[in-house]
Amino acid sequence: MTQHDSLARTALVVVAHHRTDSLTAHTARRAAVRLEAAGYRVDLLDLHAEGFDPRMNTADQPDWNNREKAYSDEVHAHMRRILDADVVVAVFPVYWQSVPAILKGWIDRVWNYGFAYGRSKPRLDGKRILWLGLAGATTGDPVVEGMQTVLETNLSEGIAYYCGFSHSTVGLLTDAEERPQRVDAEGNLLVGEAVTGAEREAQYADLDRRAREFVEKFVAEERVAA
Ligand SMILES: Cc1cc2nc3c(=O)[nH]c(=O)nc-3n(C[C@H](O)[C@H](O)[C@H](O)COP(=O)(O)O)c2cc1C
Repeated sequence: MTQHDSLARTALVVVAHHRTDSLTAHTARRAAVRLEAAGYRVDLLDLHAEGFDPRMNTADQPDWNNREKAYSDEVHAHMRRILDADVVVAVFPVYWQSVPAILKGWIDRVWNYGFAYGRSKPRLDGKRILWLGLAGATTGDPVVEGMQTVLETNLSEGIAYYCGFSHSTVGLLTDAEERPQRVDAEGNLLVGEAVTGAEREAQYADLDRRAREFVEKFVAEERVAA
């Protein structure tokens, strides 16, 4: 089996949610199933379940004079999992137009100097990443366009491409709340009635459909790239 045989490819699915019954965890499980169906070996990294500590510490702080610094064993184990993956799919709830602290801390500590950046030939070169962010904002909310832009600037340009990834996509999944939310012109958060029954089923089915489309497009592009 060659390295580019689709059967040999590995997807690291990173989940950043504290509840296993969350929509985020559900979306991550579905993404993992689709990746497996497409022939990937899936390494599921549930940051909360594995007790990942997102706080930076002295052992994992970069030393700008030493890109060969030996970081903590925990961080080296995570680096290994990234190296073993051909693609990374990060699934998370959008918090303040960004990623939750636990996912940010994973990037801060693991995507470290000398490993993810700071080399003329980046070690993550050729890998691809899909960021699947679930957002409470409703699809038609004007805030969504800016959210998409800020996530792309931060996650794709600021992080993934800086670290040598060859491809990065932000899949923003709006309408992740059962009670529609928007902010009015005076800055008040308007929380609507909970969607129930068939309407709620349809809302979640639509989110599942959009998530599946992001994953399938990502997989299809991966086949072309490979
Ligand atoms: C701290 C915090 C910050 C949030 N910030 C945003 C935001 O900036 N934009 C947005 O659309 N939703 C925001 N939300 C709503 C979450 O994105 C939403 O609750 C989540 O995606 C629902 O998925 P879950 O049930 O898996 O948690 C925020 C929620 C929390 C708790």
